[in-house]
Amino acid sequence: MWRPTSSKNMEFVRDLGADEVLAYDLGGLNTTTEFDFMLDTLGGSSYGDALKFMKKNSVVATIISGRDAVRPDYIDAVEEERQLTVKFVFTRPDGRNMNHIRELVEAQKIKPVVAEVLPLTIDGARKAHRLSQTGRVRGKIVLSNNN
Ligand SMILES: NC(=O)c1ccc[n+]([C@@H]2O[C@H](COP(=O)([O-])OP(=O)(O)OC[C@H]3O[C@@H](n4cnc5c(N)ncnc54)[C@H](OP(=O)(O)O)[C@@H]3O)[C@@H](O)[C@H]2O)c1
Repeated sequence: MWRPTSSKNMEFVRDLGADEVLAYDLGGLNTTTEFDFMLDTLGGSSYGDALKFMKKNSVVATIISGRDAVRPDYIDAVEEERQLTVKFVFTRPDGRNMNHIRELVEAQKIKPVVAEVLPLTIDGARKAHRLSQTGRVRGKIVLSNNN
C-alpha cells in the first residue's frame, strides 16, 4: 500500500500499514511503483497527479463527487489512455451498512481513528463544521451526547 500525506502525518500513515509513504509537501510525489488499485479521497489535481502511477487496465474507487472537488479537464483523457475502471463509491448510513462496518472494526480489519469528540449541541456541531472545513482533520470528528 502506498499513501500520500503531508510530512507531519508520515509516521501516522506508516503505523496504519502503508509500505511506502510519500509526503506531498516534500518535493512532490514520486515512486517507481505501479498500482493495480487506487482509493481516491481527494479528487482534483491530487487525483490527476496520482493517475500517472496506475497500471493499464487498473481500478480506481473514488469517494469524490463533482461537489467535493473540481475535476481538471485532462483527467478524462488520462483515464481513457490507461483504460482505467473508475467507480464512484457512496456511503449509505443505513443499519445494514453500519452493521457491516461494525463487524469489520470488531474483526480489526478497519482501524477507526477519532480526531475529536465534541458535544452533540449547536456549539459542538458548529465547532465540528469549522474543524472539518480546515481539510486537515486526521480521522473522524464525533458528536456525542455522552460528554
Ligand atoms: N462518497 C462518500 O460516501 C463520502 C463520504 C465521506 C466523505 N466524502 C468526501 O471525501 C472527501 C474526504 O473527506 P474527509 O472526511 O477525509 O475529510 P478531508 O478534510 O477532506 O480530509 C482530511 C485529510 O486529507 C489529507 N489531505 C489533504 N490534502 C492532501 C493531499 N494533497 N494529499 C494527501 N492527503 C491530503 C489531510 O492530511 P494532511 O493534513 O497531512 O494534508 C487530512 O488528514 C471530502 O471531499 C468528502 O466530501 C465522501
